[in-house]
Amino acid sequence: MNSIAVELNQVLEGTAAQTLLSDLGKRMYFPKGIVAQSAEAKQKATRFNATVGMAKQGADPMFLTSINDSVPGLDASDIFTYAPTPGDAKLRAVWKAEMIKKNPSLEGVSISTPLVTSGLTHGILMAADLFLEKGDSIIVPDMFWGNYRLIFEERREASIVPFPFFAENGGINLEGLEKSISDIKSDKAALILNFPNNPTGYSPSVDEVKAIIAILKRQADLGKKLLVISDDAYFGLFFEDETSTESLFASIADLHENILAVKIDGSTKEDFVWGFRVGFLTYGCKGFTDAQYDALVKKTMGVIRSSVSNCSRPAQSLLLKALESPSYYDEKAASFKILKARYEKVKEILAEYSDQDTLIPLPFNSGYFMTFICKGDAEQLRLYLLEEYRIGTIAIQGSYLRIAFSSVDLENVDELYKAVFTAAGELWN
Ligand SMILES: Cc1ncc(COP(=O)(O)O)c(C=O)c1O
Repeated sequence: MNSIAVELNQVLEGTAAQTLLSDLGKRMYFPKGIVAQSAEAKQKATRFNATVGMAKQGADPMFLTSINDSVPGLDASDIFTYAPTPGDAKLRAVWKAEMIKKNPSLEGVSISTPLVTSGLTHGILMAADLFLEKGDSIIVPDMFWGNYRLIFEERREASIVPFPFFAENGGINLEGLEKSISDIKSDKAALILNFPNNPTGYSPSVDEVKAIIAILKRQADLGKKLLVISDDAYFGLFFEDETSTESLFASIADLHENILAVKIDGSTKEDFVWGFRVGFLTYGCKGFTDAQYDALVKKTMGVIRSSVSNCSRPAQSLLLKALESPSYYDEKAASFKILKARYEKVKEILAEYSDQDTLIPLPFNSGYFMTFICKGDAEQLRLYLLEEYRIGTIAIQGSYLRIAFSSVDLENVDELYKAVFTAAGELWN
């Protein structure tokens, strides 16, 4: 094992993170050479700096005018240069400050500085690289984003252990969650929770969050080391008053020495920049020292460096500009209002159809989506809607149909849902 990895592992000795690391995670490190040599050159190489793998002209990076002219608001250095492996330092600091603003429970809690990943997908994979491998399990509610299968099962060869998301009474199946953790016979367990959930559009209430915290604490008290990943892709789109408006991460980042909390979030959906590929990965663990956070960050830099090297510089620069813009919050509030109006319209329409049994909506209160349980085959309905009505929806696991109301204008929501109910009636009534 590389001597830097050995050093990082020593720093993490005795922590939950050490137990939770995969073999790859144990081997990971960030080579000191690159950072040290560039930093040294920056200070001392006043004559010529020939360290970095970029072409330069004077103080600026070399660039094509046709590209530079397309992004008039940014300096050449903010468009063309490599970003640091963990991400632009200012963006990381600003995102952390924003995270605390959005999650006041994090005030005063020691967490890592977020690392920039190439979208949330990459962040989830980086966490999976560091903590999951063949023989491990990851607990997931049975309604989950399909890409988890490729990431956890195919790439990392871990097993997904699903538990039924909803209890009989419609809320989160807390018993199922606790049982799936206690059923794991190993001294460690991993779980990923995604709120607002894709595909159901459900987020827990404040009381449900309290119950989830109690479960995690109970399991941690029993000595189990827990990796809890919060996939906060749709964070902020909470449409009901009783819904918890903070990330689960905020409640568990300082909950227990045996719980390593990982927050995966980003601007993809939060800031409506799907193609930018800017996500963030942040750690929180009770009792962690700065040196221990630093060791985990260095290991994460290792998996980033060996996967994408570093993430898009122009996207990070544009995002930073937006976050610092005086109109940022107003712009976001305006977009939220538009999406909330669509959500409310969907609820209104569903109330009109409450006495039919072809399509039963699962509970939803947030995010981009809602999902129906279908009386018949969801794929049959999906194809029928496509062929007969020219309407695109997503069929999931045979009996669920997901509708992204986020992508349909308010004035068309009524027509969309009426067509979906009519089609289902034609097939199954
Ligand atoms: C639940 C969930 N997590 C993560 C992602 C990935 O986000 P990104 O596009 O930033 O990789 C998505 C995207 O659809 C998602 O639905």
